[in-house]
Amino acid sequence: MSDLKHRLGEAVEAAFAAEGLPQGLGRVTPSDRPDLADFQSNGALAAAKAAKANPREIAGRVAERIAADPRLASVEIAGPGFINLRLTDAALSDRAAEIAADPRTGGETVSAPRRVLVDYGGPNVAKPMHVGHLRASIIGESIKRLFRWRGDEVVGDAHFGDWGFQMGLLIVAVGDEDIDPARLTLDDLERLYPQAAAKAKTDLPFRDRARKATAELQAGRADYRALWRRFVDVSRAALQREFHALGVDFDLWKGESDADPLMAGMVDDLRAKGLLVPDQGAEIVRVARDGDRREVPPLIVVSSEGSAMYGATDLATVIDRKQSFAPDLTLYVVDQRQADHFDQVFRAAYLAGYAAEGSLEHIGFGTMNGADGKPFKTREGGVLKLHDLITMATDKARERLHEAGLGAELPAGEFEATAHKVAVAALKFADLSNFRGTSYVFDLDRFMSFEGKTGPYLLYQAVRIKSLLRRAEADGAAAGPVAAHEPAERDLVLTLDAFEQALADAYDKRAPHTIAEHAYRLAQSFSRFYAGCPILQAPDTATRASRLTLARTTLAQLEQSLALLGIETPERM
Ligand code: ARG
Repeated sequence: MSDLKHRLGEAVEAAFAAEGLPQGLGRVTPSDRPDLADFQSNGALAAAKAAKANPREIAGRVAERIAADPRLASVEIAGPGFINLRLTDAALSDRAAEIAADPRTGGETVSAPRRVLVDYGGPNVAKPMHVGHLRASIIGESIKRLFRWRGDEVVGDAHFGDWGFQMGLLIVAVGDEDIDPARLTLDDLERLYPQAAAKAKTDLPFRDRARKATAELQAGRADYRALWRRFVDVSRAALQREFHALGVDFDLWKGESDADPLMAGMVDDLRAKGLLVPDQGAEIVRVARDGDRREVPPLIVVSSEGSAMYGATDLATVIDRKQSFAPDLTLYVVDQRQADHFDQVFRAAYLAGYAAEGSLEHIGFGTMNGADGKPFKTREGGVLKLHDLITMATDKARERLHEAGLGAELPAGEFEATAHKVAVAALKFADLSNFRGTSYVFDLDRFMSFEGKTGPYLLYQAVRIKSLLRRAEADGAAAGPVAAHEPAERDLVLTLDAFEQALADAYDKRAPHTIAEHAYRLAQSFSRFYAGCPILQAPDTATRASRLTLARTTLAQLEQSLALLGIETPERM
């Protein structure tokens, strides 16, 4: 199965080929002028340029060849040589029926599924999260769901930061306060870590003890290991709960520490391959290449103090993943500020043969900023607490629902659950509706509006369709074959048909905003249809049945689009 654009494209391409013109020029795109046509092909212009011929004349010849296609109601030449295609109502209705009957509502699967590992979220033990972690979680979750839905075998890994210097800081801090490890809570960790981190900046003996503790932990000192296990467990349980509240659930919580057992072997291997070179007391892998347009510094594998470095950990993790999952593709959904780090790690991995060239990709993104243009913070100048953010958004969602007179009849528990869904939809959609590389400003009032391009607007539209379908069911009104005639019906079918392209673009560019854009267009198209084409009050039962099928299919595709963004739809509002 394929979308209309591709099916028509084949016909037009064949016509180009039959005219002795480059087949690829027959590509078809949605019309720029929906009032005149459904699709268009601009290939005659390029063909004419190459052949030094008249584009309108070429367009005319191509048009003549496709004019008899039974799917086309009209083929017209416009302007300098655009070919405008308009489908018959029957062809559109057939396509609508196909989408309606398809549990995937027209979204296709890849022909050759791959094994894909998505490294996203990247929270750290005790260390507070920042907006980079928030965006990594939202974008990564969506990419994970998209790849999985397209048919790849996907594993999402939180790549938990559980192995750095912060561990030594905590070990020393807990010891100094004489806290019973068995009673240690997240609050303790969140209080102790910032204190210890600050102290280490000025108190050098303290810092040295923390360094020593880190080294001893990594060397396997048993009591430190036990304490560390406790830090990791406490942190992880709390983080899992908070991420879950945001609709982010990792398949794996492997830690940086999981790479540690591979480190010594990796160092030997790199040395044996002649890739590891001493440099001012450290050991590095040079990754610069001829033709680099900027200087790419070497990857530091072993620091002059002998401790494991962030880059070395990532390199060893590549080996670990190769052994445990053998991914064809690994996507690192991490802040754009880490681009150089990943460039170094990937180059080293390719040099050492730990991953196939091109199989590691950094999926970077911009920041979410506050009104001051700096990375967003909750709490006075402080850190982003996922919990605070969700609470704040849910408070706002309740307020908005009340203002809009929505959800008033819901039982308290359901109202609360709905407010939570509205909050998550607002946060996620605001993030995912921008191309990931773009930074955006945190503006809860705007994110939470029931009007405009927002998560709450989309939920509202979905809920409106659900309530319509419930009323239809209560009236005993059945759905039936689609017959699209009205402009709003035709537009809705064309929009449903565009789903596949939105998915393909999101997949190829690893950029969920095209799905967000599609969901918004679909909701808008449905809105026009709903306003212009009575459904329950349709003039006859056949029309009503057709419109109910369109409504049901729209809902299914809208909910699927939102699910791919990690957004859940309530039943009622
Ligand atoms: N924990 C890291 C940080 O807070 C992010 C980890 C990203 N993933 C990775 N494989 N390095 O910056």
